Amino acid sequence: MTVHIGANPGDIAETVLMPGDPLRAEWAAQTFLEDAVCVNRVRGMLGFTGTWHGNRVTIHGSGMGMPSLSIYANELIRNYGAQTLIRIGSCGAMQEHVNVRDVIIAMTASAISTPSLGIFRELNFAPCANYELLSAAVKAAGEKESACHVGGIYSSDVFYDERPDLTEQMTRHGVLGVEMEAAELYNLAARYGVRALAVLTVSDHLLREEALPSEDRERSFGDMVEIALHAAFPDS
Ligand code: HPA
Repeated sequence: MTVHIGANPGDIAETVLMPGDPLRAEWAAQTFLEDAVCVNRVRGMLGFTGTWHGNRVTIHGSGMGMPSLSIYANELIRNYGAQTLIRIGSCGAMQEHVNVRDVIIAMTASAISTPSLGIFRELNFAPCANYELLSAAVKAAGEKESACHVGGIYSSDVFYDERPDLTEQMTRHGVLGVEMEAAELYNLAARYGVRALAVLTVSDHLLREEALPSEDRERSFGDMVEIALHAAFPDS
């Protein structure tokens, strides 16, 4: 047990999928895993371990924002031995050619600040995805109906953003979408020598007044979970 995770040693798989929402962790575990068992419910942050095509997988919520993700990712890596962490979540599109329902695979994640800022100080560290996972995810995405984009994203500290000028500059510089967790996941993976990737579904559009209808969310979310599982286990 750790401060925030009630699982026993050995309850967590080496491969962990991390949605922001704990109820999505439950849904994904029930939908995609066999023999899924709940291994954490401390503070309502649900985690489940089961198997996918015979491979052991944990699906554990990260909560919203980098400080929350940092708590869970730190404990999963340092106390439970997680080796592969894949964020599965939603993002807002920042390019005209990206549409709601599309999938974004995040090669890099820019940020104004992350919980690692205290370590990096003046260094503008470039958090990037693990290439092995990235290339396997791109291959898996090719088999799906959802359109897939690969490139840089923005990990924001705020959902209710007050910087339209910054959004404009990021759009100008080709950033595909905005979410709130990936940059710190990539920082932690670099620090501890583990593999990380973020696979995202576009739930809303920052340049157009569009959002994914709730009935469509589940199907799009399903494609993303399968892409993440195939990325972790490319031979399965
Ligand atoms: N901003 C930040 N995070 C998000 C958004 C957004 O517009 N959409 C989904 N996650």
